[in-house]
Amino acid sequence: MTEQMSIRDLCKDYDDGSRRVHAVNGITLNIRKGETFGLVGESGCGKSTLGQMIGLLLKPTSGQVLFEGEDIWQASRRRQKQLHQQIQIIFQDPYSSLNPRKRIGWLVEEPLVIHHLVPDPVQRRHQVEEMLELVGLDASYAQRYPSELSGGQRQRAAIAIALILKPSFVVCDEAVSALDVSIQAQVLNLLKDLQQKLGLTYLFISHNLNVVTYMADRIGVMYLGSLVETGSAVQLGTRPLHPYTQALFSASVSVFEKAGKRIVLQGDVPSPAALPAGCPFHTRCPYARDICQREKPALAPAADGRFCACHRVREGWEEQT
Ligand SMILES: Nc1ncnc2c1ncn2[C@@H]1O[C@H](COP(=O)(O)OP(=O)(O)OP(=O)(O)O)[C@@H](O)[C@H]1O
Ligand code: SF4
Ligand SMILES: [Mg+2]
Repeated sequence: MTEQMSIRDLCKDYDDGSRRVHAVNGITLNIRKGETFGLVGESGCGKSTLGQMIGLLLKPTSGQVLFEGEDIWQASRRRQKQLHQQIQIIFQDPYSSLNPRKRIGWLVEEPLVIHHLVPDPVQRRHQVEEMLELVGLDASYAQRYPSELSGGQRQRAAIAIALILKPSFVVCDEAVSALDVSIQAQVLNLLKDLQQKLGLTYLFISHNLNVVTYMADRIGVMYLGSLVETGSAVQLGTRPLHPYTQALFSASVSVFEKAGKRIVLQGDVPSPAALPAGCPFHTRCPYARDICQREKPALAPAADGRFCACHRVREGWEEQT
């Protein structure tokens, strides 16, 4: 598989009136064409901020987002509009993103009109009906308003709106988090099915590890705006290396068989407005040593091909303890 999305040292600071919030703090990452890359981490760690910078919704403070080699934030406005066709986002709460006064058919058709893609209205409506059927809503749903749909149906409509422009890269930001568990499974399977049929690449963001391990080929774990570990879903699910990944996975009911005890983290997540020096996790890490307070560990290759940002893993302290 070739790389489709390359993120280089990406940062985003928010100015919160009196303080500067370092929401994303130097992330480098490659996402391959056709894969699902899962992004996990506790609330506030910067997942949505990262997703929005990749999805052309939020300008980075520094760093690059390269889509098929092109720096999307250096592109002209006109070019960015074209890139928007290629890169789409599906959000958690379709109700707030669907205009309640418009019918579903128009909401799905509108992106085609905005992008001047299909000038013939009959052909356009035909495409809308095909798309509705593809996401499991029959053509009659075109006449309904968002309030006349269930939560799962609204999320299907939101998927149709995102896919009508035939994107190749889709950011799913907590796309099933607002749904009941049984409906979640249906929408996840629909997303998997659509990926196969349409050859999509997903950045799949969720705080729910079970959902991410079910969906993702590879997973990245975020903590306080940094990536602390990336690897295949099986590697992270069966043998997490980073102490934070270990704690995160030990607390979940994993789809993988796992060994080891539950690790309960002490202390609170530090504020992203006052990042700790050195390793961002050192204030809560049971293995922290002096170096952890001084030097931020780089996300470096580990023996089995994954990447991990931890002095302990890099220097093999775990074998010594
Ligand atoms: N517009 C904003 N202005 C100031 N701070 C912000 C803004 N948006 C996000 N933040 C802060 O940036 C940090 C990262 O937020 P973000 O929404 O990216 O986290 P997240 O991982 O998606 O969280 P969640 O799992 O709750 O969705 C948080 O500390 C948040 O409070
Ligand atoms: S670098 Fe140190 S503090 Fe950070 S996770 Fe590794 S052992 Fe813990
Ligand atoms: Mg979020």
